[in-house]
Amino acid sequence: MIEILVLYYSRYGATAEMAQRIAFGIDSVAGCQARIRTVPPVSTICEATADEIPDAGPLYASLDDLRECAGLALGSPTRFGNMAAPLKYFLDSTSSLWLGGGLIGKPAAVFTSTSSLHGGQEATLLSMMLPLLHHGMLILGLPYSETELLTTRSGGTPYGPSHTAGTDSKLPLTDEEKHLCTALGKRLAGTVAALHQG
Ligand SMILES: Cc1cc2nc3c(=O)[nH]c(=O)nc-3n(C[C@H](O)[C@H](O)[C@H](O)COP(=O)(O)O)c2cc1C
Repeated sequence: MIEILVLYYSRYGATAEMAQRIAFGIDSVAGCQARIRTVPPVSTICEATADEIPDAGPLYASLDDLRECAGLALGSPTRFGNMAAPLKYFLDSTSSLWLGGGLIGKPAAVFTSTSSLHGGQEATLLSMMLPLLHHGMLILGLPYSETELLTTRSGGTPYGPSHTAGTDSKLPLTDEEKHLCTALGKRLAGTVAALHQG
């Protein structure tokens, strides 16, 4: 099986739910399988380390997860129009992979959740692409043949799936948001599989 990493941070669960939908899309492509990983919160005590295995949910990501997987879906809540610090902290630990070119040529995509409709989904998605471009990854978005991009009244962008969770972060994913998450997983896995065949 070709493994594709779905790596995310989520505080209140919305980005985690998107990750599950994207993984569903990946698993629906023959020969492909999602590996879901998260990252621990960061604290103000700079050298604090969390247990390697969280109390609940997916395992914490390691550099080996990035090295071993053939593609990446990277997800974060929007924080002030940018990715959340715990995910950035993990990415900032990937210098050795960058030096060895370990991610060059691997397809990648990004996803996010915000409180408000105009709270910075696109800004976050575009800025999440930057470190992946430095790593030499091949960035994928969503094409407008996914017509939910045209009809959505909530999240969903050509830069990647997004979700509008509301001020209490409790709004469920809309049908359009769910569809676009699954579509991204399928597109990512389909691209990875085609590259492997070629
Ligand atoms: C420090 C901080 C900054 C935030 N910045 C934004 C923002 O710029 N725009 C926005 O719409 N929501 C913002 N939010 C809200 C989160 O993006 C939103 O609750 C998101 O859906 C949480 O995802 P999660 O359930 O995966 O943790 C912020 C939340 C926090 C804690």
